[in-house]
Order: sequence, then structure tokens, then C-alpha cells
Amino acid sequence: MARTVVVVGTQWGDEGKGKITDYLAWKADVVVRSQGGNNAGHSIFFANKKYALHLIPSGVFNPKATNVMANGMVINPEALTEELDMLNKSGLKQPNLLISDRAHVVMPYHLIMDELQEELKQTDAIGTTKKGIGPAYADKASRIGIRFGDLTDKDGLTNKINLALKYYNPIFKAFGKPELKVEDLVNRSYAYGEKFRDNTIDTSIFLNEAIDKNKAILFEGAQGTMLCLDHGTYPYVTSSSPTAASVPLATGIAPRYIDEVIGVTKAYTTRVGSGSFPTEFENETTKYIRERGHEYGTTTGRPRRIGWLDINILNHAVRINGITGIAIMLLDVLTGIDEIKICTGYVLDGKKIHHIPGSYSDFSRCKPIYETYPGWKEDISQIKDVKDLPKNCINYLKQIERMTNTKITLVSVGPDREQTIILYKYFE
Ligand code: GDP
Ligand code: IMO
Ligand code: MG
Repeated sequence: MARTVVVVGTQWGDEGKGKITDYLAWKADVVVRSQGGNNAGHSIFFANKKYALHLIPSGVFNPKATNVMANGMVINPEALTEELDMLNKSGLKQPNLLISDRAHVVMPYHLIMDELQEELKQTDAIGTTKKGIGPAYADKASRIGIRFGDLTDKDGLTNKINLALKYYNPIFKAFGKPELKVEDLVNRSYAYGEKFRDNTIDTSIFLNEAIDKNKAILFEGAQGTMLCLDHGTYPYVTSSSPTAASVPLATGIAPRYIDEVIGVTKAYTTRVGSGSFPTEFENETTKYIRERGHEYGTTTGRPRRIGWLDINILNHAVRINGITGIAIMLLDVLTGIDEIKICTGYVLDGKKIHHIPGSYSDFSRCKPIYETYPGWKEDISQIKDVKDLPKNCINYLKQIERMTNTKITLVSVGPDREQTIILYKYFE
């Protein structure tokens, strides 16, 4: 019986990972966010209320689950405080939250740097969420980062912030940005350290003990495979790896402890930010999908770009993540579209290919090859059994299974927790 389940996004993020995590969290003892930061925006909908989470794992609504923010994350303590306040105001009492002492802190200078880098790149800007994610991971790699465990050691913290500002202030000065003061930053950061002192532990030890006790553990992905620093559409990616392979490193558990990997997949494709997107289209159907699917960023409010489902991308994600089951999301959004396309391959410089080229300029020249399937008109949003779906809808799902050689284990027909068709029972 599977005890550890990893939830990953197979596209460019916003596939519905929050909904699936919340849904499965009711059977989990522990829910873990392993990487990324508040660039993520996970919407959860139940009892006619919508919640947007950015840092806190989507297991937070199950009072019995422990929520872990693991070492691979970059955490802005101010944003974390705001999110906790939002949950408190919504009536959710203090959640069980553990923070890794090795998670990196997103500092105020990371936000300024993110903004500045985007400005300097001009037309080549990534379209980041401007949450300081890239600079925070860069500092981690440059070995000038500040970790959560550092926040409660005032002298050590002062030295670390001093070092970081030796690097950042001359840059800010040169580009006309305000320079930051060591003391201000130390006081602010130390106050957050005190606030979260009791939550901050070695979460790797906690997780390994949970594995030893045979607890059910759910790893909630953020972003998506195509935004992976290694396997995504570099350089138009985020600064961490949102794949299943990153979970062991980003949480401190061994790779052999991963049992199942759910590839969360939108029934079509969306993307926010810049970068090529072979199946993107702009016509009346774009508007139809954007309005039905409320396709506006949870974090930035930007309208999401829309395209057809891309099997090249899905197979790339299946291969890299070792996906054992696919969750098809937002299937209800396609209701009412006469003809639905699936991209089955690309033509690159006159040649058919079935992979994602590593070269971004090659990827940008890829033209999609489509198969077209008839759509359906019936409302599917209340259907609980896959057999009750319209014939054309079942056919669409079957084509996806055939083209990926992977089982669909969950089908989502609406944002609410209840609007989920279950084909495989995880954690049972
Ligand atoms: P995440 O980042 O992967 O967690 O996804 P987001 O929450 O950013 O975006 C997914 C959006 O789709 C949210 O607004 C969800 O409430 C919504 N959603 C999730 N599943 C479904 C579904 O099956 N149908 C519809 N109509 N909306 C859904
Ligand atoms: P969830 O978890 C969609 C995108 C940004 C930008 C690129 C780099 O909600 O699926 P960053 O701020 O990370 O440096 O931005 O990555 N991006 C996301 N797009 N969903 C996300 O998270 C994203 N997190 C980052 O739009 O293109
Ligand atoms: Mg999102």
C-alpha cells in the first residue's frame, strides 16, 4: 500500500495541484511543500469558499495533518505571516506547521533584485512573479543565503546580512535603488525568527520518523515540470526543480521512499509569464476557456495564456517524474467546444519530433501537429462516475491514456473538492 504520494504539475504550473493536494490531504498524516516559495498560488475551494495559498501546504484544512515546509523551499517570513493571518481570519485556528531550519529566507533585497533583473532584461524578461525567488535561490548557490535556522542567532544573522549587503548595496546604488541598512534588516528578520522559533526544526528527521511509523505522507508540488530549472523551457523557468526527483533532496528523505507520483494535468494548457508555447492560440475559444476556467494568475492576477493539450509535454513529464497516475483537471471547462485538439508531436525545421528540444531556440521553432476530436455539450460538473461522462468526453480521456501509456487516476470536473471523479484510491 502506497504511503508516500508526490503531486507534480506536468505543464507550466496552475494545473490544479492545490485542489488535488487538499482532496488527498484528508487521508494524509503529513503534507509537505518541498520547493519554491510564494511564487506558487494554489486555490482550494470547498463549502462555497475559495482560499489561495502560496507558501503553506494545502493540507492545512485537515486539522489532523502536520504541514511541513521543507528545506528546498525559499520562504518570505512576512508573506508567511500574512498567509497565517488570512487563515486565522477565515476561522482556521493555528495550523500544525513545521518549517525546516535549512529552508532559505527570501529577504527584502531579493525582491528588489528580482524587479531590477527583470527591468534590465527588458524584452527578454522572464515575467517572474517578482517575489524574489530567483535571487533567493541564487544566494543559496552563491553561499550567501540566510536559512530559517539562522534567524534566531542575532550575532550570526548580523554577520550574514552584513555580507549580503556588501554585495547588494553597491548594485542598488549603481541602479538608483534605495540602499538597505543592516540593523533594520537584522531587527525585522530576528523578530520573525522569534515568532517562528517553535515551528522551526530539522524537518528531515521528522519526515524520516514519519516514514518509519508508516504514516501517510503527501508531497505537494509547486510550479510544473516545464518550469523546472533543468528540464523546463530554460531560461523561461523558475529557479528550482518542481519535479518528483527533487523531492528527496528538497525534503531529506531517500529516493526509495517515493511510492506514487500523480501528474496533475490541465485538460488543456496554460502559461503565465514569457516564453514559447507551441499550442498557444488566440481566438474566441481562448476567451471562452479563460472565462470558464477563471484563467487569471492566483499570485499575480495576470491573464493566463491558453493552448491545447500537448502530449509531447505530458510525455516529457511522465518520463522525468516517473508518473504512476495522471489527474486530469478542469475537464468541465472544455464543455461546449465543438472540436478539441490534442498536440501529438512537433514539426521542427521540416522534421517530425516527439520530444522537447533542449535548445530554447529549437523549441521556439516547433510547430504543433494536431489530432482533432469532437467535443461534448452536456454539463459534466456534477458527475461522480466516469461511466456517466458523455461518450466524446470518455474518448478524450482514453486518447490521453493511449498517447501517454499511463492511467488516469483522478478526473476533476469543477473547482470544489466534491467535484472529483475517483478512479484509483490513494493511501488505501
Ligand atoms: P495550482 O497552482 O496547480 O494549485 O493551480 P491554481 O490553483 O493556480 O489554478 C487552478 C485553478 O483551477 C484554480 O482557480 C482552481 O480553483 C481551479 N480548478 C481546479 N480544478 C478545477 C476543475 O476541475 N474545474 C474548474 N472549473 N476549475 C478547477
Ligand atoms: P503554481 O505552484 C505558474 C512562473 C512565472 C514565470 C516563471 C519564473 O501556482 O503552479 P519566478 O517568480 O518563479 O522566478 O517566475 O515561473 N511561475 C509560475 N507559473 N504557476 C506557478 O506556481 C508558478 N511559479 C512560477 O510566471 O514565468
Ligand atoms: Mg497556481
